[in-house]
Amino acid sequence: MNILAIDTSADETSIAITEGRRIISNGVYSQILTHTQWGGIVPSLAKRAHQERIDLVIEEASKRFLKAKGEKKERKTTYLNEAMKSIDCIAVTYGPGLAIALEVGIQKAKDLAKKYKKKLIAVNHMEGHIYSCFAQNSKGKPDVPIKFPYLALLISGGHTELILLKDHLSYEVLGETVDDAAGEALDKAAKLLGFGYPGGPIIERLASGVKNKDIYKLPRPMKKSPDLNFSFSGLKTSFYYMLKKMSEKEINKNAKFLASAFQEAVFESLLIKTEKAINQTGVTNILVGGGVVANKHLRSYMRKLAKRHSGQVIFPPFPYLTGDNAGMIGIVAFYKAELGSFSKESQIDRTPRLRLSEKAVG
Ligand code: KG4
Ligand code: ZN
Repeated sequence: MNILAIDTSADETSIAITEGRRIISNGVYSQILTHTQWGGIVPSLAKRAHQERIDLVIEEASKRFLKAKGEKKERKTTYLNEAMKSIDCIAVTYGPGLAIALEVGIQKAKDLAKKYKKKLIAVNHMEGHIYSCFAQNSKGKPDVPIKFPYLALLISGGHTELILLKDHLSYEVLGETVDDAAGEALDKAAKLLGFGYPGGPIIERLASGVKNKDIYKLPRPMKKSPDLNFSFSGLKTSFYYMLKKMSEKEINKNAKFLASAFQEAVFESLLIKTEKAINQTGVTNILVGGGVVANKHLRSYMRKLAKRHSGQVIFPPFPYLTGDNAGMIGIVAFYKAELGSFSKESQIDRTPRLRLSEKAVG
């Protein structure tokens, strides 16, 4: 079964064509340069950029799909028209995300479904980040078997959640952030240090190579709370007051130590709660998805944690899968299609605050 998947939830216009867990082609137009100068995503600019680029990204993904299938025939029509002959359904992210950005992808999915008479599948973006760990390339690599149950740690710019998966598409939210998300905290810390957006990769670069991680002491939020929730806004405030006591010269000189201290505090909080979840559930196989999983320090900490519990940690297998991409949406859609979980056009509406525990439409 081939699925054409669309994700326009934030600042990437992404289209993929998938087959089961295999991502045959994935096209992304990143708007990061549009938003960097504003220090964050500007919804109206995101909407316009999605509208301007979506057809081009669809053509590109279709072209790569046909190439991967080895079709060298003379083309009398668009790549999309040709690719549609092999496509069974259209999947689209309907939340969470920016309302007016989601809307662009949803409208496109509905238009394509109508024009080419295909079924529609609505996907939660966060389900996508979980399933990005199961992704394979067009040759079916890596071939890691899927063995439930899993604990999933989702760490993105808008979300920090611990989820128990007993089976496909079944989510029990064990804990989540009560304020800022982990990625958001890193973005804000970078801003406080005078750097741009997105801050996570900047903090990682600054912190890499820092051996003495304890020069600056920051709290480990929610460390003692018995639940599995996270909180990062107090940490950001502590960081703010720490910087306020320093001169600009001192901050610049010590930026790498400050970045490292902040990153350590965020990651240790994630690790403490993940370990608590392992102890509470007895589940030792862990999936980690969302933009922050691009971070190499975090990956190494998570590997050590899993090893301590004789478990296994699975990350998205290719770098592009850590960020937003439609490939992961197509993978979720495949499992939904297997269950017959299709949606009517009228059932799909943008849902900016969609939660994972909610049953998907259809
Ligand atoms: O999943 P994502 O691309 O978009 C959302 O759905 O939010 O996540 C973006 C977040 C940003 O906060 C960004 O700073 C963070 O992921 N991020 C990183 C790294 N790369 C991206 N955080 C830490 N280290 C990185 N290398
Ligand atoms: Zn995302």
